Amino acid sequence: MKIGIIGAGFIGGTLTRKLTALGHEVRVSNSRAPETLAELAAETGAHAVLNTEAAEDADLVIVSIPQKNTPDLPSTIVESAKPGAPIIETNNYYPQQRDGLIAEIENGKTETAWVAEHLGSRAGDVVKVFNGIFWKHLLEKGAPAGSAGRIALPVAGADGAGKKLVFDVVDALGFDPVDAGTVEQSWRQQPGTPVYGKDYDADGVKKALAEASEVRTAEWRA
Ligand SMILES: NC(=O)c1ccc[n+]([C@@H]2O[C@H](COP(=O)([O-])OP(=O)(O)OC[C@H]3O[C@@H](n4cnc5c(N)ncnc54)[C@H](OP(=O)(O)O)[C@@H]3O)[C@@H](O)[C@H]2O)c1
Repeated sequence: MKIGIIGAGFIGGTLTRKLTALGHEVRVSNSRAPETLAELAAETGAHAVLNTEAAEDADLVIVSIPQKNTPDLPSTIVESAKPGAPIIETNNYYPQQRDGLIAEIENGKTETAWVAEHLGSRAGDVVKVFNGIFWKHLLEKGAPAGSAGRIALPVAGADGAGKKLVFDVVDALGFDPVDAGTVEQSWRQQPGTPVYGKDYDADGVKKALAEASEVRTAEWRA
């Protein structure tokens, strides 16, 4: 597959490493010139490109940047990908540590819905996954399907071919995908929820999602 990854930090860099290792053609960008990603490109065989080029003709796009930087993304991401290509976003709202106040999220909009709005027209193709797993575990703790205790990851987005493709990618990376509902229900996996930051198996993830509360606690407010 052709995969565009926007953001090349802990998570974007890890996904670049793992997805190139699986044989995918990866274009990766950060907020600066492609030359700043020369080392990652040389290590993985990924193509370092401008932000405006990363999603070009992609079967799958991954956005993995600080939540507050979402409005800086190019407006062309969705339209430059293949029609129907899902857009994974891995972001978390960290008001106190990094992002400052984002009023719409404070007022109850899910982090993913906010990202989808900024990405524009095909918001229905946005899927939340990888937001709650520590990057080093994403890098090192994948396991073959059927392994006892295989870590499971919640996947939230509209049902359809895009979500199915994301399920397949999560599985190929070594994790059990668990359906966490729609973008509107993705608060169940946001920071501060029972599933966030845990390495539960599929049963554990389902239980934790069911126990989540929609109320954003003080720790996760600006
Ligand atoms: N770290 C984790 O274990 C972890 C786990 C799950 C989810 N997350 C979430 O995933 C997201 C990424 O986390 P991270 O730890 O990978 O962050 P990070 O290491 O700080 O890396 C952020 C990346 O985003 C890039 N970036 C920033 N603004 C951009 C823009 N406008 N366009 C393109 N690229 C941009 C940065 O590029 P420059 O270097 O050019 O600024 C950098 O490559 C965050 O929302 C985070 O909360 C993190």
